Amino acid sequence: MSQHQSGNGSKKRDFLGFTGLDAAKIIELFDYSLFIKQERHANRNSDEFRPIRHKTVAMIFNKPSLRTRVSFELGVYELGGHAISLEGKSIGVGERESVEDIARLLSRYNDAIVARLHEHEIIETLAAYADIPVINALTDLSHPCQILADAFTLYEKGLWREDTKVVFVGDGNNVANSWIELAGILPFHFVLACPEGYLSDEKLLRQARANAKGSIEILHDPMEAARNADVLYTDVWTSMGQEEEIAERLKAFAPFQINSKMLAEAKSSAVVMHCMPAHRGQEISAEVMDGPQSIIIDEAENRLHVQKALMVKLMNHDVYRKFHLTHRLNRAANRLKA
Ligand code: CP
Ligand code: NVA
Repeated sequence: MSQHQSGNGSKKRDFLGFTGLDAAKIIELFDYSLFIKQERHANRNSDEFRPIRHKTVAMIFNKPSLRTRVSFELGVYELGGHAISLEGKSIGVGERESVEDIARLLSRYNDAIVARLHEHEIIETLAAYADIPVINALTDLSHPCQILADAFTLYEKGLWREDTKVVFVGDGNNVANSWIELAGILPFHFVLACPEGYLSDEKLLRQARANAKGSIEILHDPMEAARNADVLYTDVWTSMGQEEEIAERLKAFAPFQINSKMLAEAKSSAVVMHCMPAHRGQEISAEVMDGPQSIIIDEAENRLHVQKALMVKLMNHDVYRKFHLTHRLNRAANRLKA
């Protein structure tokens, strides 16, 4: 999360990645996500709780999406706002008009921008020229909303410890990059098991390693990496935009499938995660994807709760801050009583 001086002089917060967040701020976001989730599960999505009432969010999608699009659109609706979905092709980001003009214009109409784009530099430009918060809904470089939801899933299940070993098996892509960014902030043991030549972003890795509270390892033997893992995580072998590399990727990644044999190397309590969409028989076997250790649908559901929490933080900080003050006061009162 980064703070920018917007064109009109006010401070606004963006969420392009984990930069600017520390462990305490991430845990705060998890606690608020838990509150949001519990309210929804208890059917307490009441008319009084509409922290972004009358606010609108412009959502730009330059790539396909199911989870991100539905969870953001639904999330905005449940928080009392209205989302406007824009197909990247129809607005022609950087082609029909400049990124800077789109940022300035949408800032006059809307209260936030959610964008899924190819080049990460474009979302940085959007954020630099917009007066309203910009949220990264995936770029070629990173997918921070996904990893926020994934880490929250482990947190709410009580699986987040300092020595939790998360093994990402597959491509050092945008999803892996966001795990690496997070490993620079939260203490845990992160391992990327990828074929030679499919490494994560060098700069992000360097920065994360320089700050890491836990450890970050890169291995090329997936079975060795999976040993004693608490979490086995994977993603597609061919990301959106890389379709012409499918044949060579299928070959390079063949030994990197999460299947029962690999799962047997992990701890017996290990859980399996995947950001979806999934290809059974490629990066994950059907048996594991649909097996008892899979928490894949839980993490997909959590996209909704975590993104709602994030939008309240970015779009109505007073409500977000008040929740945490009350939370802290209650905790202190309980400690004094005990
Ligand atoms: N995991 C994820 O971002 O899914 P979509 O591409 O369907 O949004
Ligand atoms: N790495 C994948 C993630 C999909 C959610 C892609 O970019 O296509």
